[in-house]
Parts: sequence; structure tokens; C-alpha cells
Amino acid sequence: MSAIDWKGLLFGYFKTDYNIRCSYINGKWGKLEVSDSEYITLHIAATCLHYGQEAFEGMKAFTGIDGKIRIFRLDENGKRMNRSALGLMMPEIPAELFREAVIKAVKLNIKHIPPHGHGASLYIRPLLIGTGAQVGVSPAKEYMFLIFVGPVGPYFKEGFSPVRMQIVKDFDRAAPLGTGSIKVGGNYAASLRAGDRAHQEGYASAIFLDAKEKKYIDEAGPANFFGIKNNTYVTPDSVSILPSITNMSLRVIAEEMGMKVEKRQIPVEELAEFEEVGACGTAAVISPICKIVDRETGKEYIYCKNGKAGPISEKLYNKLKGIQEGLEPDKYGWITVLE
Ligand code: PLP
Ligand code: COI
Repeated sequence: MSAIDWKGLLFGYFKTDYNIRCSYINGKWGKLEVSDSEYITLHIAATCLHYGQEAFEGMKAFTGIDGKIRIFRLDENGKRMNRSALGLMMPEIPAELFREAVIKAVKLNIKHIPPHGHGASLYIRPLLIGTGAQVGVSPAKEYMFLIFVGPVGPYFKEGFSPVRMQIVKDFDRAAPLGTGSIKVGGNYAASLRAGDRAHQEGYASAIFLDAKEKKYIDEAGPANFFGIKNNTYVTPDSVSILPSITNMSLRVIAEEMGMKVEKRQIPVEELAEFEEVGACGTAAVISPICKIVDRETGKEYIYCKNGKAGPISEKLYNKLKGIQEGLEPDKYGWITVLE
């Protein structure tokens, strides 16, 4: 019998057996290497340590109802990693190399993939870092691509139960023409103070507004934001948010459910008009939001008064989980089933 308490898992680091590494030297990627060490050796002047040449991804593998392992939107994560690479002047990872590395990392740690029905999954974390030494500000000549994996439970401890979030205006996570739309470590460093304060003040996350005008909703911490009204799924259009692959998928599912989909600016005042709101992302899946408080004005927006997620959020959640776990057909080729 397994010693892992799959049901009790939180979202965090979990040591597994192996990770994957690949080096970029002399202008080309080498072979995938397998390591059982949790550590890497770095040059003290590596650009990832000094100048933030670091990008990462996040995706999940699930055990389906049929016992098969399914990885959700592997190629889309690879494409985004390459957009991040371009954004920080790092080398792109060929799609085939990315795919092979992800599959290898999952297969080598098969015993750590949570079984079906425990609300847990295997989180896959690809990482691309500048390892070459530079002291002047310029891109490295050498890089490392790594993948580690680990079983995880819900990102917000409430799981699918609604969370409270706080609008902040005294911090930005990304500038309008900065790196907000790519998945690089600097954005997360910039979000730490607002996120930590939100936790201290009793909220699951901070909600950031557009950095320029502070008028529109940007993101809900490490997740995108959506609101539902009049049978319409509304989600922010902003240059400084991460294009969430979960959100992209939910927009397709919402349309399939007969809803309208709008990707546009969402003024803060519009929060008063939504019937349901939520955060979405790989880690967050769908986290329904029961209450949003504007930290500056104290204004409150209340949703799902009975403490339960709204019916549309629940339907979206079930459809998405259904595709990920093989209960619904994979009409769009979002799933890689492990052989
Ligand atoms: N926004 C931010 C800032 C994130 O870190 C994430 C997580 O990846 C998301 C949104 C959700 O994106 P995805 O659905 O691709 O995981
Ligand atoms: C994800 O949802 O994959 C994320 O990367 C969110 C967070 C853990 C950074």
C-alpha cells in the first residue's frame, strides 16, 4: 500500500525519484540527462542568479477514470516557454525536445502520480535558466533546461470552496510593456509582498489592477480572473497578464456550453455586476471567489453567499476536470495519453 496520503496533499514541493536536465552549450542543446539529485551546481556569476534569466512552466498529469495517465496541454506549455525564452533572450527549446523531456519526467516518476479520485495530480515544472557567467548585463551563452515533478493537491487550501481576495493598488506585479505576459521569475518576485500581505490580512490572494491606470482587473495572483454575467464568460484583456492555458481552455468550454465569451478590459466597478467570479490556472484549476475587498476603499463585492461555488463555475470546473481525467472526450487534442 502506498504511504502517500493523496487526499491530504497540499500544493508544494514533494521529492520524487528523478528529474531531467539538458544543457545548451556552443549554440546547441545536448542530450536529455536523468538525475536523482535535487540540486544543481551553478557558476557564481550565472545570469539566472543576477539578471533574472529564468523562465518556468507549470502543467499537470492526471490518472484518468480508466487508469491511463493524461498530460494536459503539453504543447501549449512548450510554446509559452519559448515565448518566455524569447522575452529574456534565452534559446528556444525545440517542441520535440520539450515533449520528450516532459514525458520522460512523468514516466520516471510514475509511482508519484496520484491515483484517480483523490483530487490530486502530478505537477510538472519545467525550468529554463541562464547558467553562463556574465557580470555586465547581457544574456548568457550557456543555459540549462530542467524538469521536476511532484504530486500536488489544491493550490488554495479551500480547494473548490470559494476564497476571499483583495484588490491592491499599491503594488504592481508587471509593467504594461514589461514581462507580465511571459512566465518569468521576476514577475513572481514582484508579487511576493502584495501576496504575503493579502495572506496576513486573511485573503487567499491579491488581485492586481492594470499598472498604468489602476482601473481594470489584471490577474488574481498566480491565476487569471473571470467573471460571469448574463450567460457570458468575461475575462481581462491586458498586456501585462499571463495568457493562461486554463483560461484559454475554459473559453472554449464556455462557448461549448452555449455561453458568450468576452475577452476585454474589466473595470473594477463591473465587479458589482457579476453573478459569479473566479480565478483559473493550472495550480488553481478554478477557484471560485466568494468575496473581493478593495483594500484601499474597503468596498466589498460578495458572491456565492451560501458559501458554495456558483452553478456555472461548477459546470465549467466539472467539464475541465472531465477532459483532464478522461470522463469527457478530448475533442480538441488537448491531452497526451502516456503509452
Ligand atoms: N497567471 C499567472 C501569473 C500564473 O502564474 C499562472 C499559472 O501558470 C496563470 C495565470 C495561469 O496560467 P495557466 O492556466 O497556463 O496555468
Ligand atoms: C501554475 O498554475 O502552474 C503556476 O505556475 C502558478 C504558481 C504556482 C506560480
